[in-house]
Amino acid sequence: MERMETWREACLVPLERMKRVSDAMLHKMDVGLAETGTNLPMLPTYVTQQPSGKETGHYLTLDLGGTNFRIAYIQLSEEISKVALRREAKWNIPKENMEGTADGLFGLLAEAFKEFLDQLELDGIPLSRDKIVLAFTFSFPMDQNALNSGKLLFWTKGFNIPSCVGKDVVVLLADAMHRAGIHGVVIPAVLNDTVGTLAAAQYFDETAKVGVIFGTGSNAAYVEEMEKIEKMQGKDHHSKYMVVDIEWSDFYTAELPIMSFDRKLDEESLHPGKATFEKMIGGMYIGEMARNMLLELLGDDALPAPSPQGRKFLATNDAIGGEQVAAICALQDVLGEPLLALTESLGYDDEAIKKAGPVIQEIMFLVSRRAARLAGAALYSVLRKMGRVGGVRILPTIIAVDGSMFEHHRLFHEELIMSLTELVGPEAEKIKLQLSKDGSGLGAAIIAAVADLGAQ
Ligand code: BGC
Repeated sequence: MERMETWREACLVPLERMKRVSDAMLHKMDVGLAETGTNLPMLPTYVTQQPSGKETGHYLTLDLGGTNFRIAYIQLSEEISKVALRREAKWNIPKENMEGTADGLFGLLAEAFKEFLDQLELDGIPLSRDKIVLAFTFSFPMDQNALNSGKLLFWTKGFNIPSCVGKDVVVLLADAMHRAGIHGVVIPAVLNDTVGTLAAAQYFDETAKVGVIFGTGSNAAYVEEMEKIEKMQGKDHHSKYMVVDIEWSDFYTAELPIMSFDRKLDEESLHPGKATFEKMIGGMYIGEMARNMLLELLGDDALPAPSPQGRKFLATNDAIGGEQVAAICALQDVLGEPLLALTESLGYDDEAIKKAGPVIQEIMFLVSRRAARLAGAALYSVLRKMGRVGGVRILPTIIAVDGSMFEHHRLFHEELIMSLTELVGPEAEKIKLQLSKDGSGLGAAIIAAVADLGAQ
């Protein structure tokens, strides 16, 4: 099991290595604040005012970023930090729309929006059709030069529509609304999901300073002092702070423990050569890492031979999903249900199951632990960048987190907290990771409300 030994060592990501990854990220953060076009782009978001909890009004939000999109109607109450009403619906995005044309994808969004507005009216929710304020959460890297405009830099996750790259996604959405016969839509804000997650957390607790997603994809946003965003100099701005979307999906350093299975995963992915970091920590990829590791072990005869059907199964992209990895990691008794389902797909008999079970579970542990420790190193870099750690004292900090890996993958969650504790040291309990469930939609409404207040 020589290969397993190598993997065990690499996936453990010892403290010193986490620190070196963090050093590299911190350095790239500095470069990204000064220059454009780096692989850690530190994107200005034009979110310059922090929510206070006093925002009011009703807003529509549209949240696009994963395998489905959500539309919500959100009423912010006159009472401090209170959401008076939230109606939400979710639609699946067919694969052909994720890789098809701009009209196809944005047309799908507009049709769903129309359906949603009609349903709101049927439900007796008063809407003025003359002016519908819609905040757009678009969870991909954008080059913004205003709060209400963002040009797509590159696609990540399962999306690939080349004709959208370089286009303003607000214009694409507004045009699609027009084509669908929906008039009066005003889009005052477009934002990343990390930015929405942060705003939602700040609405309830103004001390929150970082928004993070550990889900299908991964990324973080934080509050930066304007004068430190060197590349903003000369641009017309009067604010003291701006939220920066770090966009760590594409981060790379030679310190990352990249293995042969990562290279195979990358080659077979929709965006080869891109999103190196996300491919090591994202929920969209964790099942693929495990599948490719199992394939290598089979090649070494380190696992019992599967049936011909089982071999086919394992050779199929995305045959193992992130939820399956999480569920197998959570098993107390290795031979529990989610593992048995997998071994059944491999066509194993009882004896083969007994032999392969512990190996398969260990593979799931390894990929999850590596993901969590690299994610921990990334969070530590943000804390260092903000000066919350690294000084004489650790400053109490709330990090708002959303995403399936954080919420549903227990081992990932625990290992993430442990890695941060190791990195931060004795006062680590001052750093709090707080689940901000579905915060990005709410955050969009809040950012639109802040913009509204500012405009008055
Ligand atoms: C995107 C980010 C996003 C993250 C989480 C990444 O793939 O590039 O913009 O914040 O996923 O959804």
